[in-house]
Amino acid sequence: MKKIVLGTLVLSVAAFASVNLGACKGCHGANFEKKALGKSKIVKDLTKAEVSAALVGYKNGTYGGPMKGVMKGQVAKYSEADLKATGLGK
Ligand code: HEC
Repeated sequence: MKKIVLGTLVLSVAAFASVNLGACKGCHGANFEKKALGKSKIVKDLTKAEVSAALVGYKNGTYGGPMKGVMKGQVAKYSEADLKATGLGK
């Protein structure tokens, strides 16, 4: 019984941790229509696959341009599964 309760708790915490896109908008624009800090690609014009690959790559250190350090900090706290499920991109 204890295990079941614990399991449910862990699951709900995980669901709660989905990516907080509000935190991204200061740089990327309310609809992800801006070049963040004048440098990034326009996220809303990328495909969903490109967005997932970029976010997971920032986390793993395998993707990015000169300002990838900024994004690494943004995505560090999220799991790969969360980063693939943002729904961003076309
Ligand atoms: C402090 C400003 C800032 C915040 C906040 C921020 N970003 Fe970024 N983002 C950038 C910059 C700068 C780049 C380009 C980095 C580089 O050189 O690779 C970037 C790149 C990206 C890219 C890849 C586009 C490309 O240029 O290849 C995606 C996707 C992205 N950000 C999504 C997000 C998401 C989702 C969040 C919120 C969890 C977020 N960003 C928060 C500044 C920010």
